[in-house]
Amino acid sequence: MKRTDPSPTGAAPRSPAIDWVNPRRLDLDPGVARSGLLDFGEVLRSRRSTRRLEKATLQQVAAVVREALKADYTGTGMHEGRKRKRVISAGALHPVNCVLIDPDEGAIYYDDENDVFVAVQPRDQALLGTYLAKCEDVLPTARGHVIGLIADVRDLSSVYTDHETLLWRDAGAVLQTLALTSEASNLGFCPLGILGQELADALLGNDQAFVGVGAAAIGRRVQE
Ligand SMILES: Cc1cc2nc3c(=O)[nH]c(=O)nc-3n(C[C@H](O)[C@H](O)[C@H](O)COP(=O)(O)O)c2cc1C
Repeated sequence: MKRTDPSPTGAAPRSPAIDWVNPRRLDLDPGVARSGLLDFGEVLRSRRSTRRLEKATLQQVAAVVREALKADYTGTGMHEGRKRKRVISAGALHPVNCVLIDPDEGAIYYDDENDVFVAVQPRDQALLGTYLAKCEDVLPTARGHVIGLIADVRDLSSVYTDHETLLWRDAGAVLQTLALTSEASNLGFCPLGILGQELADALLGNDQAFVGVGAAAIGRRVQE
């Protein structure tokens, strides 16, 4: 399939806020992900997808998400809206957001800019159930947390023409960074082939601006 290269339009990002329902800031104190004694080479070489998982604590999972996705710096002036993060991203726009699904707290969005975890209510509870059932169908042996990736394409689509491939490349970079951070934290991780549009729609309504771009299971490894 042939694609057209993206190119900058010259438009500045506006970084519009996302309209979550009843956002409630959680006091999770996830701290930093524990990398133990593994060096980066060991992490790269030992990483494997793990499909048999038990629940890790919410703090452990949140620490992985935070370590992978925290924004250390947000640009100012003409670079306003450009974040500095561990993950590569076209134009430093970082459109991919991460939502954890916890059995007690429900959906929890990681607000990378303010470095806080925020419990949010679904607009459509039944659709959230459909999403979770789909995740379980794909990987029935994973009893850990689900991490859903939801992209906000509002800035990306105004800053670039033919922006779609940038989005998928950004989503892959986020998945790989989460996988390596999980490995370094001694947690198991497995991407799921589904996109997870149901999660985006359940939380944010049927808005074209929010695209499900991936999902993964994360948790304690169970010996095979
Ligand atoms: C985009 C993507 C989707 C994936 N979907 C699934 C999936 O639905 N089920 C599954 O068991 N593994 C899934 N995987 C994991 C791959 O099967 C796995 O990465 C591959 O077999 C290589 O194994 P390794 O990760 O242990 O090196 C997915 C990986 C990627 C990158």
